[in-house]
Amino acid sequence: MKNFYNIKLDNRLYLCAKKVRQEKSIVDIGADHAYLAIWLVLNKLVRHAIATDIRKGPLLNSVHNIKKFGLEDKIEARRSDGLDEINPYEVDDIIIAGMGGELIAQIISRADWLKEKSKHLILQPMSSESELREFLNREHFKIDSEQAIIDNNKVYTVMSVFFEETFYNFDKLYPYIGRLGDNLTFENYSYIKKVIKDLKNKLKGYVLTKQLKKSSDISEIILELEKIIKENER
Ligand SMILES: C[S@@+](CC[C@H](N)C(=O)[O-])C[C@H]1O[C@@H](n2cnc3c(N)ncnc32)[C@H](O)[C@@H]1O
Repeated sequence: MKNFYNIKLDNRLYLCAKKVRQEKSIVDIGADHAYLAIWLVLNKLVRHAIATDIRKGPLLNSVHNIKKFGLEDKIEARRSDGLDEINPYEVDDIIIAGMGGELIAQIISRADWLKEKSKHLILQPMSSESELREFLNREHFKIDSEQAIIDNNKVYTVMSVFFEETFYNFDKLYPYIGRLGDNLTFENYSYIKKVIKDLKNKLKGYVLTKQLKKSSDISEIILELEKIIKENER
């Protein structure tokens, strides 16, 4: 837990905050309580923030918290489905945290302006990470860096993403571990182990239902990932 000015960010949101570029304007999509935006503004790391939510209840939480800290001139709470109510010129860094990977992909696909060079995405999916990485790769959004983090005994990943027209990663492990193999910290290593466990469960299902091609493809991925783990244990 990092504690500044009475706002506590958990490890997951703190890692998202660390990826934000300083002195920029940000939007936090699905901000719920707006803690991330409040923390960034209180610590003078960003110029301006918009905290959005699709639902009225969470948006009112944001309004209440922004008022409590007297930050109405620096943070705007705005109701929006994804980026639908955000103008491209308003923000540089876009944070989408605490949602499923498929929803994150859907939100990105509806905002073509995210392909502008100056835009930076910070993504923290709660599920379907491989589907999100596949979507990003297909659409030429490059995962510039990625880092795992442990919070409340669960391991999460945070991706820093930019659009690059010619980018495509052909590595077959990329959808599963993204850039986490670049630097085998304890957290990244824990994430890879979790992926292996999840894939082994998936494999059981494929074997039971006699899906031979899928079984053999996934077995190959598991072997490759186990190789990374073994090399690290040496
Ligand atoms: C689990 S909370 C995550 C809150 C915070 N971002 C975090 O990571 O701690 C997910 C929030 O996203 C909001 N949400 C879900 N779908 C959304 C969408 N399409 N556009 C904006 N907000 C959305 C929900 O209402 C909820 O407040």
